[in-house]
Amino acid sequence: KTTETTIHNALIKYGSLLLLVGQMVGLVLVMRYSRTHISNGEMYLASTAVFMMEVMKFILCLGVVFYQLDLSPRALGDEIYNHVWASPNEMLKLCVPSFLYTVQNNLLYLALTNLDAATYQVLYQLKILTTAMFSATMLGRRISSTKWASLVVLTIGVAIVQMSGSSDSHNNDASGKEDRNRLVGLVAVLCAACTSGFSGVYFEKILKGSDVALWIRNIQMGLPSVIIALATVYIEDSREVYQKGFFVGYSPLVFCVVTVQAVGGLIVAVVVKYADNVLKVFATSFSIVFSCIISMFLFDFRPNLLFVGGACLVILSTVMYSKPEYPPLLGAIHHAEL
Ligand code: C5P
Repeated sequence: KTTETTIHNALIKYGSLLLLVGQMVGLVLVMRYSRTHISNGEMYLASTAVFMMEVMKFILCLGVVFYQLDLSPRALGDEIYNHVWASPNEMLKLCVPSFLYTVQNNLLYLALTNLDAATYQVLYQLKILTTAMFSATMLGRRISSTKWASLVVLTIGVAIVQMSGSSDSHNNDASGKEDRNRLVGLVAVLCAACTSGFSGVYFEKILKGSDVALWIRNIQMGLPSVIIALATVYIEDSREVYQKGFFVGYSPLVFCVVTVQAVGGLIVAVVVKYADNVLKVFATSFSIVFSCIISMFLFDFRPNLLFVGGACLVILSTVMYSKPEYPPLLGAIHHAEL
């Protein structure tokens, strides 16, 4: 029975990691493609896509709780009532990551409208740096000198990629607009890296501070996200929505972007539960290599030597950061405790 459980858990662990690599590569490519190729004469509104994604994620979470806890629809209603309506303090706490993730998801569209997929992927790795900093300050985790060294390598690698100026064919523009766009994309991705680090650590602190199940936590975070995402549509794009409709510019590809991002949020949750953040970071490294290669074919992305050098430093730093610091036996005990 225990062997069966071990095999079952290992299958979920490696299966979810494989899915995460596929999801990360797929998302960055379809999102970039959807922001650079207009299909119905109009570009879709990013804020509405984020809202649709939050709605889809919320429904999927409800489905998982329903299925996992084997509840009747009435019991599911009671569970939601207890954890949402009857827990205003908990809900208030979760509004923080909920708000930041919604901002982050909007920023990612802005970044991928203005930056090519490969540059975006490498720059977004800075979230390792922000995660480490917030883990040290908010969770009081000690960060070893190897880890700090790897973070310095990461920052240098990211700076080199930024200086390389490598871009795909959609950013080539002689009017100087390209530089301006690149700056907007750069600021967006840097802000997203900060919110990603903070929200990840904040969520982990809440998750480990009580025994409320992960999926219930996701529902508590998901509900404010849906409301905040709707408010963002109103604040940012209400005029366009009134004039052209909520689903202006939507094509099957846009629904595909929304679905891949929604499912991705849930895969992140499973990976953190069954594997750990270290393996998640490894998956990101793999996805950078894959998306660079695919970008060369799909977007005519031409990396120069500086880009390749910088990207190699970023991958090296990820591997350095993820190296376990304790001996294997102690490591096994540490994992068993988690
Ligand atoms: O890049 P990062 O790892 O910060 O991406 C997190 C993504 O996963 C965000 O889109 C966020 O909305 C989603 N997420 C989620 N539920 C969690 C944690 C993250 O939906 N518990």
